[in-house]
Amino acid sequence: MPGFELIGEEEKQAVADLFDKGGVLYRYGLDAKRQNIFRVNDFENAVAKKIGVKHVLCVCNGTAALKLALLAVGVKAGDEVITQSFTFIATIEAILELGAVPVVTEVDKSLNMDPKDLEKKITKKTKAIVPVYMAGVAAKMEEIQAIAQKHGLPIVEDSAQAMGATYKGKYLGTLGAVGIYSLDIGKIITTGEGGLVVTNDEKIYLKAREYSDHGHEQNPKVPRGEDTRTTWGFNYKANELHGAIGLAQLKKLDYILQKQRDNKRKIKEGIKNIPGIEFREIPNPEGDAGDTLIFFMPSREKASLFAKKLKDKGFGTKNLPDAIDWHFAGTWTQIFYNFSEFKGKDLEKVWSQSTGYLRRAIALPIMVLMPEERINQVIAAVRDTAQEVEKECLVSRT
Ligand SMILES: Cc1ncc(COP(=O)(O)O)c(C=O)c1O
Repeated sequence: MPGFELIGEEEKQAVADLFDKGGVLYRYGLDAKRQNIFRVNDFENAVAKKIGVKHVLCVCNGTAALKLALLAVGVKAGDEVITQSFTFIATIEAILELGAVPVVTEVDKSLNMDPKDLEKKITKKTKAIVPVYMAGVAAKMEEIQAIAQKHGLPIVEDSAQAMGATYKGKYLGTLGAVGIYSLDIGKIITTGEGGLVVTNDEKIYLKAREYSDHGHEQNPKVPRGEDTRTTWGFNYKANELHGAIGLAQLKKLDYILQKQRDNKRKIKEGIKNIPGIEFREIPNPEGDAGDTLIFFMPSREKASLFAKKLKDKGFGTKNLPDAIDWHFAGTWTQIFYNFSEFKGKDLEKVWSQSTGYLRRAIALPIMVLMPEERINQVIAAVRDTAQEVEKECLVSRT
């Protein structure tokens, strides 16, 4: 949950500096007044350097970044876009915004896209595959990449929750045709709201940039007011505050990752022998962003009881189960009942494999600022709660 924990003096200075040097908050123009300082540009260049991609576009939020990425790979009304059942609702919204049809796979024990189900869901109408790296953990990307390649489909990585996490040494978000990050308040680094589109493909970058800025081509031969265009777009631009704060936060990324990975390792070690609990499968443990620790209880009932008892002790969970309604397609009747195939169905049964994992899952938030004492309290709370749940279930059975 990290970035917001470390918002402080550096971010404040970065904003003060913007005001001291002309106070231009718009990302383009007024070159003299702003003393030629362009912080969104600087932030984009710094991210590109950090993750090793050619092009980065900073926009107003991650949902817009995802819509732009999908549009830029050519998704149009009526196309099918495959994503996974466990995600934030924004992934589906970005697909719907383009008039495309979300096709949703099961998740497996990694709580990310099940490659076996992905293959089954590909049709002639499929236009893109969107794996989501939930809670900073990679999907089974080798398998997913092989399937995408076999069918000639672009991968659009929803890395909203996974900035800085890696898969086999490469940053998540840089494995497919295009990736996105979110910079909202719950993310690994944050600018309050904000998003990034990252790609090595110049055509994808230019298309996303044009659409994010009313179709502006940024033709260097003419002033902005006379800019050339071949298409319309919308306004998803970032402003200089995103750039200034983003630069300050980016400098903290490695520290954030190191601290939360350390803290997660200690908590995992402390609870690993509890009977009945089983950890989420992590396809590439070294690359895990480390901001969440997820384990499964033996049953849905035990998981509910566990979460309630943990909360009573003053320890919250992170999305599972407290905000599952915003993260699981099995609860989204407001979306899927618009499609005749799903109307009136019990959606938890439609994605029954996912339901089987998600309804048994407990997700613990891992903070950057977690003194040893707090780590030990979390371990003790989880151990005690597990024992209480076992006892209570035993009593209710007798
Ligand atoms: C998986 C996923 N995709 C997309 C988004 C959307 O990002 P934003 O909140 O910046 O619009 C989020 C945000 O929580 C997310 O978790």
